[in-house]
Parts: sequence; C-alpha cells; structure tokens
Amino acid sequence: MINILVTGSDGQLGQCLQKIAHKYPKMTFFFMDRIGLDITDKNNIQAVFKKHKFHFCINCAAYTNVEQAEKTPEIAFAVNAVGIRNLAIVCKENNVKLIHISTDYVFDGEKKDGYLPSDKPNPINEYGKSKLKGEQYIQEILKEFIIIRTSWLYSEFGHNFYKTILKKAKRKETISITDSQIGCPTDANNLALHIINIMESQEFESGIQHVTDGEAMSWYEFAEKIVKEHKLDSEVKVVKDKNYRTFAKRPVNSVLI
Ligand SMILES: NC(=O)c1ccc[n+]([C@@H]2O[C@H](COP(=O)([O-])OP(=O)(O)OC[C@H]3O[C@@H](n4cnc5c(N)ncnc54)[C@H](OP(=O)(O)O)[C@@H]3O)[C@@H](O)[C@H]2O)c1
Repeated sequence: MINILVTGSDGQLGQCLQKIAHKYPKMTFFFMDRIGLDITDKNNIQAVFKKHKFHFCINCAAYTNVEQAEKTPEIAFAVNAVGIRNLAIVCKENNVKLIHISTDYVFDGEKKDGYLPSDKPNPINEYGKSKLKGEQYIQEILKEFIIIRTSWLYSEFGHNFYKTILKKAKRKETISITDSQIGCPTDANNLALHIINIMESQEFESGIQHVTDGEAMSWYEFAEKIVKEHKLDSEVKVVKDKNYRTFAKRPVNSVLI
C-alpha cells in the first residue's frame, strides 16, 4: 500500500485528486485541507507526519491570488516560500518524496518560444517570486522531489477562467478578453492523472517538469474555444492591451514546453 498525503486538498487540484482517488485501491490518500494542515505551521506538519507513515506528499497548498500578492507579498511568501521550506524539511526528516506544483509565472515572458524546464526563471510579480523561492528551498533541502510547473489550470472545481467564461456565455453576455498573453490552458483533471502516474510508475526522477495540455493560445482564443465547445452564441471581443489593466504584471508569453 502506498500512503499519500495531499496538502491544500480543498483547492482546485486537490479536489481533482479527490475525485479519482477511489480508482487506485493500492493507494491510500490522506487529504488535508488548510484547517487540518497549515503548511505555515511546522509543528502542525510534524504532528501529521508523526501520525502516519507517508511515501509521497503531493503539495497542492498555495497562495494563488496573483493580484492580492502584489499588495500583501508577505502573505504569499509565508505560504509559497516559507511554508514550502517547512514541508521540505519535514519530508526530508521522514524520507517522504515530495511532488510540488509550481507555475509558469516564474518566467518573465520575454522569450520568443516556449519555456523549457532548464530556462532561467525571472518572475515579474510577487506571486511568481514567492513560488520561485519555494522551488529553490525544495532543491536546496531535498534529494527526492519533483517540481511540476503548470499553467492556466481549469476544472469544474473552484474559481477559474473556464467557469467564468462559461457562466457569462450562458447569460449571453458579451465577453471582453485580452489577446496580449499566451499560455497553455491545462485541465487540472489531466494534471491530477499525471501526478498519479508518477506515483504508480517505479521510476521517480527528481527534477523540474513542465506539464500542460500542450496547446498554446491567448486568453481571447481560450474564451472563444470555450464558447464554441458549448455551442453558445456569445460574442467574444478582444480588449486591446491599453484597455486591459491588472495590478500584477503578467508574462506575455508563458508557454511551457
Ligand atoms: N490555478 C492556476 O491557474 C495555476 C496555474 C499555474 C500553477 N498553479 C499552481 O497549482 C497549484 C494548485 O493550484 P489550484 O488552482 O488548485 O489552487 P487553489 O484552488 O487556490 O488551491 C490552493 C489551496 O491551498 C490552500 N492553502 C492556502 N494556504 C494554505 C496553508 N497555509 N496551508 C495549507 N493549505 C493552504 C487553499 O486554502 P484556502 O482556500 O482556505 O486559502 C486552497 O485550498 C498551486 O501550487 C498553484 O500555484 C495554479
């Protein structure tokens, strides 16, 4: 039997893992939400690891509010950097393999082509900086880890672009979307399957992986695709860059390959 701890289990990816866990009888999942296990509290992590012998820890816990992270970066760093350091230390103490999820936002978006795992990160917003720091702690502390960088996650769970567009389209609202950023939308259910496959395979190769659904597009093109897929007839309009403002800077090209 393989024992697996899933942190941040009430988030989007955590819920995708919960949905399929029953299909893997040789795996026992311990799903812990923020109340059960707060990764900013090392004693809390140690107590949970003392109670059970885990083989893997899948870290889905993260501070993911990109806009708010600009205003209160200390909170983003407390979770995405210090929290990850805590988790890595306790994984090391207990010989647990860590599978951690990171982001396309560790890159500045200046590259013409897609980003490889070996490309040098250079985050341009506080969320990206905090996630990069978390990656660095893992690499410093652990020998057995996989960092999966993914992008533009969507699913039936939580708040995400896909659900927002679908809701607007069903109400026949005109949808105005920027076409100035390109990335790879990724179904979080596919990412959950990828993580399970890693644990099922006999090989565990430490390092950084880029995992997406593989098709690069702009937010505008993604919105159009969602509307078409559901045979809805909302109009999707492009918002030109000067009219599109967010507090946090976002990479223009965050395609991961
Ligand atoms: N969503 C995307 O488009 C995207 C893109 C690229 C990479 N990623 C990465 O993919 C991973 C999963 O993303 P997601 O969409 O599933 O995120 P999510 O829905 O925001 O889930 C994150 C979960 O972590 C929990 N959490 C926050 N602080 C915590 C703490 N101190 N201790 C324990 N749990 C805590 C949150 O709980 P509360 O809700 O109670 O705060 C939430 O349930 C994250 O690492 C994210 O950085 C996401």
